[in-house]
Amino acid sequence: MGNWVKACDANNVGSGELYGFDYDDKKILLANLDGKIYATDRICTHAQADLSTGILSEEGVRCPLHLSVFNLENGKPQNPPAEESLKTYNVKIDKNVVYVEI
Ligand code: FES
Repeated sequence: MGNWVKACDANNVGSGELYGFDYDDKKILLANLDGKIYATDRICTHAQADLSTGILSEEGVRCPLHLSVFNLENGKPQNPPAEESLKTYNVKIDKNVVYVEI
């Protein structure tokens, strides 16, 4: 069990939006796909691009650099060149605040 960490107000990550935040040395990505918020590591496992500047679609988040798409549920890359999964985190929303279990 990790600690639940306050990430942002839910308004900061509206439907279809990506949002990045840092906690200690971790760089976390929030992604709101169809009203559900997911959290993953924010740095691409291929060559360190920041996924908060990527593109969100039904398949997941697309890396802005070499275009691998990562599934938001399990962090798995859907296409090369990325091979390693992103770490994923549990998310909860309480009183319009997003918390991530780190
Ligand atoms: S840095 Fe993300 S696919 Fe290469």
